[in-house]
Amino acid sequence: MDAVAHNGVLAARKADGWEFMQAMRIAGGRPLSGRIEISGAKNAALPALAASLLTDGPVTLGRMPDVVDIRTMANLLASVGAEVEARPDSYSIRANGNLDPVAPYELVKTMRASSLVLGPLAARCGRARVSLPGGCAIGSRPIDMHLDGLKTLGATVRQDRGYVEAVAPKGGLVGGRIQFRRPTVTGTEDLLMAAVLANGESLLENAACEPEVVDLAELLTKMGARIEGAGTPTIRVDGVDALAGTEHAIIPDRIETGTYLVAGALAGGELTLEGTRRQHLEPVIAKMRQAGCLIEAPDDSTLVLRGTAALSSVDVTTREHPGFPTDMQAQFMALMTQAKGTSKVVETVFENRFMHVLELQRMGADITIGGHTAVVRGKAALTGTDVMASDLRASASLVLAGLAAKGETTVHRIYHLRRGYDRLAEKLAGVGASIELIDD
Ligand code: EPU
Repeated sequence: MDAVAHNGVLAARKADGWEFMQAMRIAGGRPLSGRIEISGAKNAALPALAASLLTDGPVTLGRMPDVVDIRTMANLLASVGAEVEARPDSYSIRANGNLDPVAPYELVKTMRASSLVLGPLAARCGRARVSLPGGCAIGSRPIDMHLDGLKTLGATVRQDRGYVEAVAPKGGLVGGRIQFRRPTVTGTEDLLMAAVLANGESLLENAACEPEVVDLAELLTKMGARIEGAGTPTIRVDGVDALAGTEHAIIPDRIETGTYLVAGALAGGELTLEGTRRQHLEPVIAKMRQAGCLIEAPDDSTLVLRGTAALSSVDVTTREHPGFPTDMQAQFMALMTQAKGTSKVVETVFENRFMHVLELQRMGADITIGGHTAVVRGKAALTGTDVMASDLRASASLVLAGLAAKGETTVHRIYHLRRGYDRLAEKLAGVGASIELIDD
């Protein structure tokens, strides 16, 4: 199937309205009640799609979230030459033809995670040419550690007119010892995918321990890779000659789950989140409980949140897993605007991830920023207004603030939300939020 036909398949998945509307209007002050089914994790589905390039066998991925970033990655696979078949919540990929190992600027510019194809293409085709991602709303986000790791595996890496090209030695990549300067999630994933087909053994040290890395290692292991230690800082890989197709269901989205936990805590009422994984949420649940949220886990895949009026401030510092996730920082800050007292929110993973603060201030939040720390004073009376955000999680925090605000909040540029939240408006409306998609 070529990229055009593939786009046609993807078009069939598009949900009504959500695809075409540009803004979201929320009337605050309505308690939420009911059940929300959690979707598959975007950040686990992205590397899983990239991993399908490592084999000529068919890879079927279940529990795929219907979000724009996944479609972008699927389009990238199709443009490389893979056959991609998209069904309502699963994808089948077969990369058995001639692959053109190039990730063009047009795709990479819309999604930095495109760099996840670098390792798989260098390993499978012996060569990869990937456009360098440009600037980003949350920080400079270089990919130097991906490139250094590929060099450690024997690749020659050079930059040329905005592209980076990695070329493996004649006999393919060779195992090596990669020491990350700091843990990097997609960097670990990218190099894990390169190492599984390298000749000999590789060590990934100071590797990221996020659940999404573990999920990728599980998928690769099902494909025939030999990996030990995923989920710890040291991953050992014994390279194999070839990998086979397989089937795999993506883990539930812990950030989507956390976002709905905060929604319930801000709006009040009782929310049941189904199909999630409690243990992936532990750092978030711990902080929310400390703030006074009532969260129960009747079993490992269900969380029940009962809203409470008595939220109190807690400090939070983002860290790599198992620390508090940076992808929940903006949402947690929205929660802290409604807590009594002063809370310090420290961002240590990205350099510029406070873009939501100015917009929250416009809604009446009392927040001051000094360097990497935001000081939130609560409880602030939020009022609805027009707001606009610059990235996915910042947009989510504005929707959450809208649930707690008096009056109507209109969140503009919701294409950010579509990149990573599967049917957000639909899911929130399903539990009683007054939320509608509108034209800007
Ligand atoms: N970094 C470098 N050099 C590199 C790679 C990373 O300096 O070569 C730095 C980054 O600039 C950052 C830190 O290392 O300061 C950690 O970044 P990391 O590489 O871990 O981030 P990422 O892999 O680009 C993934 C998620 C992000 C999430 C971060 C942190 C995917 C597709 N993206 O990004 O998700 O915030 O890990 O957990 O997995 C989101 O979903 O909204 C999102 C931004």
